[in-house]
Amino acid sequence: MELGASVEMRRKPVRRFFGTGDATPGNRRSLSHWVGERLAALSYAVLVEPTWLEVNRLRFQLPATPEALRLKVVQLTDIHFHGKTPRAYMQQCVNTANAEHPDVIALTGDYIHAGGRHIPDIAEILGGLKARLGVFAVLGNHDHAIRASWGPRMHRGLNERVASALGGVGIRVLHNEMVVLESGGGRFQISGVDDLWSQQCRPEEALARLDPSVPHIMLAHHPLTIHLVEGKRCDLMLSGHTHGGQVHSEKYGSVTLSRKMKNYAAGLYEFGPQRLYVNKGVGYGWRIRYNRRPEIAVFEFAGGGTDRSPLSAEDALGKNEAN
Ligand SMILES: [Fe+2]
Repeated sequence: MELGASVEMRRKPVRRFFGTGDATPGNRRSLSHWVGERLAALSYAVLVEPTWLEVNRLRFQLPATPEALRLKVVQLTDIHFHGKTPRAYMQQCVNTANAEHPDVIALTGDYIHAGGRHIPDIAEILGGLKARLGVFAVLGNHDHAIRASWGPRMHRGLNERVASALGGVGIRVLHNEMVVLESGGGRFQISGVDDLWSQQCRPEEALARLDPSVPHIMLAHHPLTIHLVEGKRCDLMLSGHTHGGQVHSEKYGSVTLSRKMKNYAAGLYEFGPQRLYVNKGVGYGWRIRYNRRPEIAVFEFAGGGTDRSPLSAEDALGKNEAN
């Protein structure tokens, strides 16, 4: 191909986009403006937003509970730790969670991104988390080395290594089980199930001893797990997995999520008397986030609610309509 023809081919789309293609000063300004805007957005999405942590707060009044019940839960999820995750950023996440002085810290999976090389590093970092009544965790699909619902397991036994490392630093990993805790003169139940894609997700086992008269918070990595507990008391399910799509445009929404998962992208959802919170996560595989800042979620529960107590004003921030 002649050089001239090659140059001509590259210029055509620019002509179509910017009109005449004449090399007038006005057109040159438009082109440089267009390129500059996109370079700025890309730089922001790669360099700034992936580690620009936000803290989202939600308050709930739980029905049929003693008025004195108070519980503060901090949730972190989808850390996806890998060789390029900045350690200072991870430490900032731990410090931010601890600064809330929570009763409970809930971790909802995907501690590592790929393979087991960084398990000791992330376990050591998460070992710095402090909560009055304990740090509880469930595993995600990456901890099982599964990348798709139909996909093969790439590293056998990886989930056991992750669970063992977390257990070694004092984090209680919930494998389809439930614990009952007391706070502010009231009891509450925390259950956790294994990841939906792992073929080890067994809510019926986790909820075998569920007391429907006691508040219940459930940890499950994949948001669709909510549909496996229909008819059971679940005041709030804490999930992650979607990263909010990581890249979100006003025009196209969360472009990396399937049509179905767009309905569970991020924030608070209601399914009858059950609520689901989908956290955008603190980490990333590909270092890019746009309009989907990483988050730590802080939930404050109080007792003395009526059957369907309204959410506080702050809750409206994260509320979505579930389809
Ligand atoms: Fe995941």
